[in-house]
Amino acid sequence: MSAFAAFARTTRTLAPRTAVVLGSGLAGTASAFTERASVAFADIPGLVPPTVRGHGSRLMVGEWSGVPALLFLGRLHFYEGHAREVVVGTVRTAAELGVKRIVLTNAAGGIHPSLQPGGLMAIRGHLKLLNSKAWRNLASDTAVSQPYSERLIEVILSHEAAAGRELLAGVYAALTGPSYETPAEIRALAACGADAVGMSTALEAEEAARLGLQVAAISCITNKAAGLGDAAIDHAEVLMNAKLAVERMGELLGRLVGERGA
Ligand code: HPA
Repeated sequence: MSAFAAFARTTRTLAPRTAVVLGSGLAGTASAFTERASVAFADIPGLVPPTVRGHGSRLMVGEWSGVPALLFLGRLHFYEGHAREVVVGTVRTAAELGVKRIVLTNAAGGIHPSLQPGGLMAIRGHLKLLNSKAWRNLASDTAVSQPYSERLIEVILSHEAAAGRELLAGVYAALTGPSYETPAEIRALAACGADAVGMSTALEAEEAARLGLQVAAISCITNKAAGLGDAAIDHAEVLMNAKLAVERMGELLGRLVGERGA
């Protein structure tokens, strides 16, 4: 039996309803997760190992605070040289393994003045600024323009309100990367309504919604976007600041994994 077939068999036994994708520097949020089986991305049909520092490259199945869940440690990005089909391969794999819900996380630069490094933002909508027809997107009749579940946004907001915290549900601008933006680009994005900026999530969210999954997405704000902070942005800072949000992000993910209902 192949490594993936063995993994799929364990997954069928546990029957997780939710998949979580952890972005840059966010592996530490999974401290409440107990692994039962795992498989390397390289052994999953259609996927390849990621190349970005700060990303693991495994799919795990287990329990998050006792609730069965799939957990992608790492994701694939366009700027690593992957085609759209490869980037959304994580989402397709999750759907094939039978989950009904996916929670996408990412590291992002904060544009909205309330977003500070170490903070979180729920994604209510996105600007898909990925050019080249979103890397040869699906025909427009199958694209999903509003992939994010309003109900899951409400779950996130009420969880944070109960903990006495405010959380912005805002707009994520997805760019191709790999370089960070210029200050002028950030001013343009702000004028276009973006609250945070990053290099992932939009295509995965659309594909997941197209496949009928409920979608939630949370950005971990790792830096002020270009021109809004005191210093230049660098990847080491992004990874370090992601750690500031680990506990709060982990709690929220546990809440979403435990959420019942359609
Ligand atoms: N821009 C784009 N992607 C990012 C950023 C940023 O400022 N921070 C983390 N990922």
